[in-house]
Amino acid sequence: MAGKDKALIAYGTRYGATKGTAEEIATVLRKEGIDVRVINVGKEQVEDVSPYDLIVVGSGIKMGMWTSEAESFISKFQKELANKKVAFFVSAGSYKIDELLGKPVTKIKEQYLDEKAAKYQLQPIALGIFGGIWDRKNFPRWWKPASSVFKIFDIDARIKAAGYKEIKTGIWDSRDWNAIRAWAEQLALQLLNAP
Ligand SMILES: Cc1cc2nc3c(=O)[nH]c(=O)nc-3n(C[C@H](O)[C@H](O)[C@H](O)COP(=O)(O)O)c2cc1C
Repeated sequence: MAGKDKALIAYGTRYGATKGTAEEIATVLRKEGIDVRVINVGKEQVEDVSPYDLIVVGSGIKMGMWTSEAESFISKFQKELANKKVAFFVSAGSYKIDELLGKPVTKIKEQYLDEKAAKYQLQPIALGIFGGIWDRKNFPRWWKPASSVFKIFDIDARIKAAGYKEIKTGIWDSRDWNAIRAWAEQLALQLLNAP
């Protein structure tokens, strides 16, 4: 009998949302019988990706940027990833607000995912854009535009309109767990049904 398929989920996070999302993806993949290792690339180094059939790279987005650690992981293993099944996902806490402000999700996906895949000449089998944790305290005080942007665009009202969940006072979680699980299930199918 052939051994279990192996997956690595390598993620970078600043505020923790991507960790939770990575773990949820792992739970789904494991239920499908896949052997999954999850690592925070900000804390742990990976020396060898050869044992894995699938590599999922996830990152939180801050001011339009991936974490440097998740990006370094892709850059370090660019050659190996070119010959593997790869999937990318991002935790983009404000993408639903951006949508409400008129930026289509296709543009956001292009900016955060398609451009990253193109930069490293990779062809991921899946790209996921999920929400994140929206905590105003994480915006630096010196970032003056933040406070005026909040006021001008009435961001608090938009957070509510976008259906974000208030998990603690003033902290909103825009992750859609059903969407995350559905994405992971599709990913498992793609891996398990591959020739
Ligand atoms: C200073 C700051 C800048 C942010 N910039 C963006 C952004 O450009 N686009 C976006 O979709 N979300 C943005 N967010 C929301 C984050 O994506 C959200 O906090 C997410 O949870 C980050 O992932 P992490 O928790 O894994 O670090 C920003 C949050 C902060 C605090």
